[in-house]
Amino acid sequence: MYRDPVESHASLTPLASREQRPSTRALRVGMIGIGTVGSGTFRVLARNHAEIAARAGRSIELVIVAARNLTRASSIVGPDLPLTDDPMQVATHPDVDVVVEVAGGTGPARDWVLAAIAHGKHVVTANKALLAVHGEEIFAAARVQGVVVAYEGAVAVSIPIVKALREGLAANRIEWVAGIINGTTNFILSKMRDEGLDFAVALAQAQALGYAEADPTFDIDGIDAAHKLSLLAANAFGMPLRFADAQIEGIAQLKAIDVACAEQLGFRIKLLGVARRQAQGVELRVQPALIPATHLMANVHGAMNAVMVKADAAGVTLYYGAGAGSEQTASAVIADLVDVARLDGADAARQVPHLGVHAHATNDLPVLPRAAVSTPHFLRVPVRSASGIQRVAACLAEQQVPVRQVALAARCEGADPQVLVLTGPAAQGVLDLAAHALQSLAEVSGGVTSLRVEELAA
Ligand code: HSE
Repeated sequence: MYRDPVESHASLTPLASREQRPSTRALRVGMIGIGTVGSGTFRVLARNHAEIAARAGRSIELVIVAARNLTRASSIVGPDLPLTDDPMQVATHPDVDVVVEVAGGTGPARDWVLAAIAHGKHVVTANKALLAVHGEEIFAAARVQGVVVAYEGAVAVSIPIVKALREGLAANRIEWVAGIINGTTNFILSKMRDEGLDFAVALAQAQALGYAEADPTFDIDGIDAAHKLSLLAANAFGMPLRFADAQIEGIAQLKAIDVACAEQLGFRIKLLGVARRQAQGVELRVQPALIPATHLMANVHGAMNAVMVKADAAGVTLYYGAGAGSEQTASAVIADLVDVARLDGADAARQVPHLGVHAHATNDLPVLPRAAVSTPHFLRVPVRSASGIQRVAACLAEQQVPVRQVALAARCEGADPQVLVLTGPAAQGVLDLAAHALQSLAEVSGGVTSLRVEELAA
């Protein structure tokens, strides 16, 4: 006889667990910040209220909002929602079940989040810098209090990658995660390639479109991507947040000629965050890297984000979507609120996967040093005359760097001839010594560019 699977599962649920059913009253939300993300969250919560409530199993209600500019905030939320200019009032408010922190920053935001946790409130945040820097402390406090800290909006906002790693791929051992997880730099690199723009012009356009962080060095120096990568690695490998140990290189030093020469060899340059499990530890690195032009990741353009995951059972999966934006981030924030609505009142064991990385940070994996990470490399070597190509090849042989391809750049646009080299896999330490040796050759006329090639094999 057919039995409803939900019903039969329920009949097997121990009485003790059934007594701790999640609540059905409205989940009461206090929000800190009503800027781009906060206003998007307000709008989407209002617009899709019925659908969200149906999915959450109960209504999700905003009860108070903290804002710096109360007049502006009132123009967004209207006259009925209580406002305050004191975020601590939201963090400690007796009628708030969950605090949404979308104000950004790492100093005061840490205090608000820790105060909310200390008052037994769940926290939803889109603040990647806060979690990358203070996440260990925040997750430890949440574990003690038995509350949820959810952060889908902190990583590649519209892409549900935290949930994909935590739930969809829960059966798998993750081998690596590689992501284009900063929209600003992907926009800049796309403009440099498509329109031949200089770095500075493309950056100004990205800022004008609102993609860049308040401090754009976080984007162009790879720091924002490293914040997100450290959260991805913690989820993928169950390791602690190791932002401080990540190897981080940005794109400010890249020139239009690097982009064009990579193209000649069949590659595109992307700022990639890579977290890869090795026997001795984890590679954790953000750097501009060459990807074969035909690879799906090489065809992620503009401010879009993409994350590729290699898992032992599922194989390679790819996730694509907007990495920034008001309602795009709101989508992730509200999905976390739905999770909290389902889990609030559940017993501690059921909350564990949602406590964040700390709760299952069982693999205390070290981050491998930069010199130990081995990949193929692309070298661009300016030479005084085309005959310098022989000396470059000989030098690489002396330095025991495996070479796959050596060519002269087709177009040098007024510059000296350029020798382009594609190496085989070589440890960064070996490549650094070789680049140094090349730089000191009499035939070499300018700075040597050395970039990793990322193969992202399935
Ligand atoms: N500045 C970030 C980016 C915003 O460009 O991706 C979203 O985190």
